[in-house]
Amino acid sequence: MEKYQNYLKEILIPEDELQSRIAELGKEISKDYEGSQQMLLVCILRGAVMFLTDLCRHIHVPHAMDFMAISSYGAGNRNSTGMVRITMDLNTNIYDKDVLIVEDIIDSGNTLSYVLDLLSTRKPRSLNICTLLDKAERREVEVPIRYTGFEIPNKFVFGYGLDLDEYYRNLPFIGVVDLDKYSG
Ligand code: IMP
Ligand code: MG
Repeated sequence: MEKYQNYLKEILIPEDELQSRIAELGKEISKDYEGSQQMLLVCILRGAVMFLTDLCRHIHVPHAMDFMAISSYGAGNRNSTGMVRITMDLNTNIYDKDVLIVEDIIDSGNTLSYVLDLLSTRKPRSLNICTLLDKAERREVEVPIRYTGFEIPNKFVFGYGLDLDEYYRNLPFIGVVDLDKYSG
């Protein structure tokens, strides 16, 4: 794989802006969940890993975490078909828990709508979504989002958990892909 600079058109959200917004989100979440006895963060693999690990350090309510992997056919290729399936389920019984889903980006909404329907059948005490990025103009299915880091334009982005062919998740910023140079 080549260096990321070859595919980067522009930095959309620099590291300091990401980190200060994530600290704010953590503060807001800590306030809203204060007193919760059974808080569980559910990280959607793999894209939300960076966000989860930074966000949880700003959440001062005692909480557990678990992980779930979803494959949405065509997602990330800018032409998701809406076919969603669980490739790795939670290990935790979420019955009566305060579940907060942590996601990297909501695009069409198909993935999160499927996850919400599935998890609500397991009767958590509460179920909410926290997404770092929201491409609101691309929405096909309505999804109730409780916490949003940034609303972004309809651009293909990478970095900070989001990959290009599985690479560059480690970048500390969100960048826009240069589609003249990258045609994945
Ligand atoms: P949705 O089901 O259309 O909402 O798609 C959500 C998933 O699509 C995300 O979890 C990402 O994996 C992927 N995705 C959507 N937009 C982008 C992007 O700009 N860059 C990388 N992945 C994206
Ligand atoms: Mg994702």
